[in-house]
Amino acid sequence: MTKKRRSSSWYGKADKDGFIHRSWMKNQGFPDHAFDGRPVIGICNTWSELTPCNAGLRGLAEAVKRGVWEAGGFPVEFPVMSLGETQMKPTAMLFRNLLSMDVEESIRAYGIDGVVLLGGCDKTTPGQLMGAASVDLPTIVVSSGPMLNGKWRGKDIGSGTDVWKFSEAVRAGEMTLQDFMAAESSMSRTVGVCMTMGTASTMSSLVEAMGMSLPTNGALPAVDARRAALAHLTGRRIVEMVDEDLKPSDILTKKAFENAIRANAAVGGSTNAVVHLLAIAGRVGIDLALADFEKGSDIPLLVNCMPSGKFLMEDFAYAGGMPVVLKELAGQGHLDKAKTVLGNDISDYAEGAECFNPEVIHSFNTPVKTRAGLRVLRGNLAPNGAIIKPSAATAHLLEHEGIAHVFENIEDMKANIDREDLAVTKDTILVLKGCGPKGYPGMPEVGNMPIPARLVKEGVRDMVRISDARMSGTAFGTVILHVSPEAQAGGPLAFVRTGDRIKISVSEGILELVLPADELERRRAFWEPDPLPYERGYAKLYIDNVQQAHQGADLNFLVGKDTRAVTRESH
Ligand code: FES
Repeated sequence: MTKKRRSSSWYGKADKDGFIHRSWMKNQGFPDHAFDGRPVIGICNTWSELTPCNAGLRGLAEAVKRGVWEAGGFPVEFPVMSLGETQMKPTAMLFRNLLSMDVEESIRAYGIDGVVLLGGCDKTTPGQLMGAASVDLPTIVVSSGPMLNGKWRGKDIGSGTDVWKFSEAVRAGEMTLQDFMAAESSMSRTVGVCMTMGTASTMSSLVEAMGMSLPTNGALPAVDARRAALAHLTGRRIVEMVDEDLKPSDILTKKAFENAIRANAAVGGSTNAVVHLLAIAGRVGIDLALADFEKGSDIPLLVNCMPSGKFLMEDFAYAGGMPVVLKELAGQGHLDKAKTVLGNDISDYAEGAECFNPEVIHSFNTPVKTRAGLRVLRGNLAPNGAIIKPSAATAHLLEHEGIAHVFENIEDMKANIDREDLAVTKDTILVLKGCGPKGYPGMPEVGNMPIPARLVKEGVRDMVRISDARMSGTAFGTVILHVSPEAQAGGPLAFVRTGDRIKISVSEGILELVLPADELERRRAFWEPDPLPYERGYAKLYIDNVQQAHQGADLNFLVGKDTRAVTRESH
């Protein structure tokens, strides 16, 4: 093994520096031949007991290592910050960019030649990909995989989606609190990510559609032995990729992102894919914009999974998973040529794919719903755009004009949403401010604000809701999200008042505050941003530098990449 590798400037030198790098590593029992010039493969692990969705990654790391050794590489596992979506306050999204910095600097600082990213829970996949893309060493993703289906009282229940449904049922007096609490342990009964098509499974599916993982990574359950086998094969493949010098920048092309956008529509994927794909694209210098997401708007919904459909990820996996979806897209001319981690074309992932359950994965001819892609709305209320997921919305509310009821911030909403005297009807448009990247800070998943209790009791289950927030990929409803610019940045959302009229037309892509332009300007003149109580630390760095949602909410100084060699030693 004589090929000069990046790692050789750590482990290949017959001098004091080489001694130091090798000797300290040998305290773990690695033999001499581990340092003979073979590819050093970093296994970047977001395992954490505080990120239950990633609790299976310890085991998958061992499977990756077996594959790396088998292929003649030297695997080294390292931890990075882990983001437990259900556990972190104020929101895991605040830390996605911090994780990306951790990943980027860890990869750059250590003597590794290629990387396997082990992630799963919502923000871990994009955070890791953003960081790895900015260093641009050969990289493959292995995802946690979804939990097995929730099972409660004889029926399947889905992560998140059924939490929202059950909690509304409790508020409506249709479910007891005891039953609600009893469902907890039945919903999450194995390790793995949410088993609905939430953000985690959306991102693992899109990673597959972009060719950044081996085929079937998107849907195989976390506890399915075939996922461990996939991790093993990934370990073998990353060693070859180092020799081929096949990097993220070779794979993450504009075409790959466009394939991901169409795949997101076909699987009924999360609205969060928008901010994550935009941010990843920014790292590899791809000019991706909100308008590109319109390219998926005429793609039908093929995968019948919650929250847009009725099945769960386990069913999707057994029906054939992403290769079947890619085959359908390819068959209709919606899959562009794009290279994958295998060095072949993405259409090869669909080769031989077979649908084993047409109720779960539909064909283009018999879709679950037509035109399932995300829609971008624009107008004087969102000059830089807002998004909606029509497949998870109520059809008759997609064209709507109504009176706004405004909540100035999350505390205002929580304190007042269930007041008996709240002056709202089923036609009211609920507006929530102060939940964008800067305002919260971190753009939390609160855009699907609850239906007012009084209306829930009357049987109302959906209303138009508008905010600068995000919503969980497991959530549903006629929810307009990511309004840009956000209120805290002086976007027109800041000037909306209770009693204003708002018009939305999803068919025409319109989000308008029905107000004369001079009134909007008059309100702007009297507006001041809310003072934010963050004077130090990461939150201040974030608020001072975060981009708006339509740009991906990355930190402005992290956009792009730096692939220069690190030439200075620490000793
Ligand atoms: Fe981690 Fe849903 S909370 S994947």
